[in-house]
Amino acid sequence: MNLILLGPPGAGKGTQAARMIEKYKIPQISTGDIFRKNIKEGTELGKKAQEYMNKGELVPDDLVIEIATTRLLEDDCKNGFLLDGFPRTVYQAEKLDEFLAKHGKKIDKVLDIAVEKEELMTRLIGRRVCRSCGATYHIVNMPPKKEGVCDSCGGELYQRADDNKETVENRIDVYNSQTKPLVDYYEKAGNIAHIDGAIGLENVFAHIVSVLGA
Ligand code: AP5
Ligand code: MG
Ligand code: ZN
Repeated sequence: MNLILLGPPGAGKGTQAARMIEKYKIPQISTGDIFRKNIKEGTELGKKAQEYMNKGELVPDDLVIEIATTRLLEDDCKNGFLLDGFPRTVYQAEKLDEFLAKHGKKIDKVLDIAVEKEELMTRLIGRRVCRSCGATYHIVNMPPKKEGVCDSCGGELYQRADDNKETVENRIDVYNSQTKPLVDYYEKAGNIAHIDGAIGLENVFAHIVSVLGA
């Protein structure tokens, strides 16, 4: 199963991906996570990406396409993959389709998760992430048992550098102007499913499973 999770910042892409990779035994490929790992390790790629990410702007297409397609060539993607946050422009989507066609593959389903702006802001500003295992929490909606500490691994919880009000607002604007046109792109391809992302974690997951099949 070759899947894409589409949706604005805070829609719950990462949250649902964590459940989907367990159920469907496919790897999650989050370009945002790859960039954050590179920033943490201080690589050249990380330095380049950080400039854009901290402002809530998109990292340039060619850089992202290179990273994503290289990752898709790895062995664990043979039987399927879950793209989280890629593609994010029509150009990226076209390049992805070209790449997949060259390898005799295609996208089976695009899951477009929708949540309104006010809720996105609340979710992102209250999000906390585990430094060690990447588990995601929310200070109100999904608090850890002990404040600042990850339930699953005991790691320290932190707030992403781009999860402040100003940057979040820009990320949502950037989504609306540059990424939303992808809905039409996949509508034309006929493989998009629309998911209401505001109905609670488990209900969203149940809807995704009903679209993909058990
Ligand atoms: P990326 O890391 O992908 O960030 P994003 O798209 O802004 O999305 P988020 O990760 O913020 O949100 P999410 O949908 O995963 O939500 P989550 O599940 O965590 O990208 C970061 C940056 O990298 C970009 O801004 C860009 O600069 C760069 N980049 C990455 N890919 C790129 C590309 N292809 N091209 C160019 N640049 C790229 O949930 C959020 C919160 O809500 C959590 O606290 C969670 O607990 C809570 N929550 C989740 N679901 C629910 C629910 N149903 N009900 C209540 N609360 C919920
Ligand atoms: Mg995410
Ligand atoms: Zn953890």
